[in-house]
Amino acid sequence: MKFKHDVVIVGAGLAGLRVALELAGKVDVAVISKAYPTRSHSGAAQGGMAAALGNEEEDSWEWHMFDTVKGGDYLTDQDVAEILAKEAPRAVYELEHMGVPFNRNKEGKIAQRTFGGHTRDFGEKTVKRACYASDHTGRVMMDTLYAQSVRRGIKVYPEFQVVDLIFQDRSVAGMIAYELSTGELHSFHSRVLVLATGGFGRLYQVTSNGYVNTGDGASVVYRAGLPLEDMEFVQFHPTGIYPLGVLISEAARGEGGILRNSSGERFMEKYAPTIKDLAARDVVSRAIIKEIREGRGIDGKDYVHLDLTHLGKEVLSEKLLEIASFARIYGGIDPAKEPIPVKPTCHYMMGGIPANSHGQALDENHQPVAGLYAVGECACLSIHGANRLGTNSLLDLIVFGRLAGEKISQELSRIPWMELPGQPEKATTGHIRALKERKKGERVEPIRRSLQALMMDHCGSFRTGEALGKALAAIQDLKARSQEVILDDKGSRYNSDLLEALELRGLLDLAETIAVSAQARKESRGAHFREDCPGRDDENWLKHTLILKNEGKPRLFYKPVTVTRFKPKPRKY
Ligand code: FUM
Repeated sequence: MKFKHDVVIVGAGLAGLRVALELAGKVDVAVISKAYPTRSHSGAAQGGMAAALGNEEEDSWEWHMFDTVKGGDYLTDQDVAEILAKEAPRAVYELEHMGVPFNRNKEGKIAQRTFGGHTRDFGEKTVKRACYASDHTGRVMMDTLYAQSVRRGIKVYPEFQVVDLIFQDRSVAGMIAYELSTGELHSFHSRVLVLATGGFGRLYQVTSNGYVNTGDGASVVYRAGLPLEDMEFVQFHPTGIYPLGVLISEAARGEGGILRNSSGERFMEKYAPTIKDLAARDVVSRAIIKEIREGRGIDGKDYVHLDLTHLGKEVLSEKLLEIASFARIYGGIDPAKEPIPVKPTCHYMMGGIPANSHGQALDENHQPVAGLYAVGECACLSIHGANRLGTNSLLDLIVFGRLAGEKISQELSRIPWMELPGQPEKATTGHIRALKERKKGERVEPIRRSLQALMMDHCGSFRTGEALGKALAAIQDLKARSQEVILDDKGSRYNSDLLEALELRGLLDLAETIAVSAQARKESRGAHFREDCPGRDDENWLKHTLILKNEGKPRLFYKPVTVTRFKPKPRKY
């Protein structure tokens, strides 16, 4: 079928819904979503959303901005970080007015707690800046925004997967989607297409990300010949439950939880003497891996302990309810009595579709692509630089979702309808038919598993030029094997075999962009740590990586970082 809307938003997580709510009632807007909207991955966010409200102690947007820039190891574009920090209080009150039930302090104000890398006085001491709803903050935000979108009558197409952009004459005219329940392909014709498809943690074997996080927006953009930015920066959250990687919120350490090694030592005192367990995530994750590598993992194994036993039942049941139940379900642990076994887990992509602070996607000349916007984790507005701070993600979705919506409503009347080509879904139809008709070949699953294992081994928290070279050779091999995949299921309804084959094509491209960008960056910055180039090198590498699809090897080019208030200096916690 052919669908037509002024604005089509791909992704019904918090970023996508926030854009939609800004446009509802003003233009014809529709949201398509691979999962049922309330199952979007934003709902898995636990610990909170940052804003310098100062409800618990003195705070300021300048401190918040500084922490964001320092957390990002100075790769953060400071003009965008300034918007984030200044707009944060408004974003919290906006959510409160929509109905988000934030926890309250004794004075009845929105309660706030400490979180990694958030400080007062430019790094001197931690500060209570994260607004939260127990440890299911993303869940209540998702439910509230979805309820608001139902109230405003926003049209949603659930269980539709984006497969290709319709991109011609340097403009986006819409996209092709695959309907999971029927197996039909549809074209969506739009004046503006907004990608809000989230991250791609599913590229890694151990991840906190849901099954939906396969980077569909970033991969369709890359396949269409548009650039991706800063793909080498992949965040590992320090505390995934061992061995699955399910998230144990940083809020646990914000409330006083302590990381300990096999001798019970609070080892973060060595690595981050000022704010210890609440240092930036890349610092804590590397410290855990170092302890394990040097034989101080628990019982000599590859995990450490997160000790919450001293927090008391009240804190666990009021502020850390979800993770206490996760520890029981996934680890068989009662966190009031025993420490939780944890290990870093792939959590967040700092890189993605380059976009400006209005959410306009940018081409290789850094100019807006007509008809295309990107928001949320699939976008790279360079807010988070080389390492995102916890609680800045929910904030990013709400602040820049609103700003993108405002820009679209201002611009829409000037954006023409582009003609659709005769049969826009022809190439995709051919691709799917070939997949279904192939009789001999390999199934998707072993290829996907090999990809996830090699990304974990060679493109994780620690990297070397040699390991990245091995990763690239292996990715080429997997790409060749993926040309010959066969499907067991040839049917139309909920064909997850076919969906995974479509996702695999994108994941392989994204893996290559990560490995190529990481191999070229011969320094260590934030989440990108090269053991063969362990220092940060501002003289040569204070710049953003851009990568374009090319015949043979992808093409890299660079653009400068915007530095306004804070000159880069060594990062210590
Ligand atoms: O640890 C957490 O609760 C995660 C928060 C975030 O990634 O922002």
